Amino acid sequence: GYALAAAAARRGARVEVVAANVALPREPGIDYAEVGTAAELGAECAERFADADVLLMAAAVADFRPAAVREGKLKKDAVGDGLELRLERTPDVLAGLAAARRPEQTLVGFAAEHGEGALDFGRAKLERKGLDLVVVNDVSRPGIAFDAPENEVTLVTREGAVHVARAGKEQVAGAILDAVLSLRSASAGRVALK
Ligand code: CTP
Repeated sequence: GYALAAAAARRGARVEVVAANVALPREPGIDYAEVGTAAELGAECAERFADADVLLMAAAVADFRPAAVREGKLKKDAVGDGLELRLERTPDVLAGLAAARRPEQTLVGFAAEHGEGALDFGRAKLERKGLDLVVVNDVSRPGIAFDAPENEVTLVTREGAVHVARAGKEQVAGAILDAVLSLRSASAGRVALK
């Protein structure tokens, strides 16, 4: 996400980053919003989405949260020998934004998959969430993706899949932005022809 933001800013975009738990250095000229929970991330994104041309949803948003939150400390003697936590689903921020999209916006999702079937899962996410591009990461491979300086991804669109070889995240970010620009010029062409 941070590499995408820096690459987009270098290309002249006005960039807003909504992120949680990131200790990476910040770039001048980018507007950062710090959030703590999936709900806060959803609210910040909802506020900003209508004005955006491109949404790059690289956040690994928590899929579940505790169903009940207690104020203060839970004393173990009051709990007993075992503690069961019930988790409930968080809303899918990206799918919610996609449902409210304008046709000329470009929506990019990420798919963190594990081994076999990664591309099929990526294609399914593209359709299910109503996206233009899904960046598929095979997170079972060592040395790429989470907490690593490099990545290797496959860019899945309705036109097909393009593999981006292992490289620094700045370069991978450049390849993702190239794909976004080519999707946007193709759809602008379609609008002009109508
Ligand atoms: N995402 C989101 N809100 C969530 C969960 C995920 O906006 N509550 C977004 C992520 O930012 C990412 C995309 O959805 O761009 C795919 O996330 P991923 O966790 O890979 O897929 P899921 O749809 O959650 O499906 P699964 O975990 O079952 O693979």
